[in-house]
Amino acid sequence: MKTTVSVIKADIGGCPGHSTCNQKLIDNAKKILLKSKVINDFYVTHCGDDLELIMVHGKGVNNKEVHKLAWSVFESGTKIAKKEEYHGAGQDLLKNAFSGNVKGMGPGVAEMEFEERKSDPVLVFMADKTEAGAWNFPLYKIFADPFNTAGLVIDPHMHEGFLFEVLDARTGKTVQLSSPEEIYDLLALIGSPGRYIIKAVYSKKKDIAAVTSTQKLSQMAGRYVGKDDPVMICRAQSGFPAVGEVLEPFAFPYLVSGWMRGSHNGPFIPVSQRDARCTRFDGPPRVICIGFQVANRKIIGPQDMFDDPAFDLARQKANEIADYIRRHGPFQPHRLPDEEMEYTTMPAVMKKLSGKFK
Ligand code: 13P
Ligand code: 13P
Ligand code: MG
Ligand code: MG
Repeated sequence: MKTTVSVIKADIGGCPGHSTCNQKLIDNAKKILLKSKVINDFYVTHCGDDLELIMVHGKGVNNKEVHKLAWSVFESGTKIAKKEEYHGAGQDLLKNAFSGNVKGMGPGVAEMEFEERKSDPVLVFMADKTEAGAWNFPLYKIFADPFNTAGLVIDPHMHEGFLFEVLDARTGKTVQLSSPEEIYDLLALIGSPGRYIIKAVYSKKKDIAAVTSTQKLSQMAGRYVGKDDPVMICRAQSGFPAVGEVLEPFAFPYLVSGWMRGSHNGPFIPVSQRDARCTRFDGPPRVICIGFQVANRKIIGPQDMFDDPAFDLARQKANEIADYIRRHGPFQPHRLPDEEMEYTTMPAVMKKLSGKFK
């Protein structure tokens, strides 16, 4: 049986500010999805101010009905957000009318279709205050680094490595690179997560292993409207990395861009659902993970994977890094390099000063 997991998300208003998603928006989304006949099962949550729809169905990726359903949830929630005057109500809905697919309209999308195995563990990662390329680092660790993933060495089904599909966000072209043979080429690209984004990972037999949302909001809108706040879906076990190997990279709070006004670098802090609220300096950038089994197109046993003291040290380290980097104030490398500031007030500042440069 072929099953599709679709994760579609949008920031349709924060409350207060860009910190979190009001419970009313979550309840409204659940109400609409519960009534729908389009999907087989769903799980609604939020990471910071981003509303996250995890949907399971049999309709394949890029399905018009599924996308339309998600769009209707966001539209309906935007009405609530506007009425209650949440901050940035309808922030990520860049277009007024639905045209068949939410891609290019503002929401972030990650979807995969696969033949259900006898047991199919799936992990969905959701982030706030960061950019689409934020998954490059953990995806490399999970699928290409034997110091992270023991299975690359000791599981005969993983020993041959994986295929990485990388998007050049500037040209829209993709390239497929094979690990371990081409890891240095791969790293040359994905070490620049602002431009090169891992879009998907496949086994060497071409089975889908992971997908990410690659939408870059600023490029869609042509101005700064908010950060991408991306999502990622990873399959685990039996030829894929174990659940714990997929989670392992997040024990290190690596630096990502997108904190405060989408313009700062900061540590990526793994938190429980309960703590998926951005506070200090509108952050620090956060990641949550919901893990479950997919069986007969149902979501079985969803778990809040970072709700675990095993990630306490990562959180403590992230807070230390946040404290340290914050002291740089408006200075790089806390603030992003110039080319990544082009969708902020920088062009206006430069214009104002242009006559003063001698
Ligand atoms: P607003 O205060 O107008 O939302 O814009 C700035 C912002 O919050 C982005 O960080
Ligand atoms: P979001 O992209 O999460 O709306 O954040 C906007 C922002 O700039 C917060 O400082
Ligand atoms: Mg927001
Ligand atoms: Mg957000």
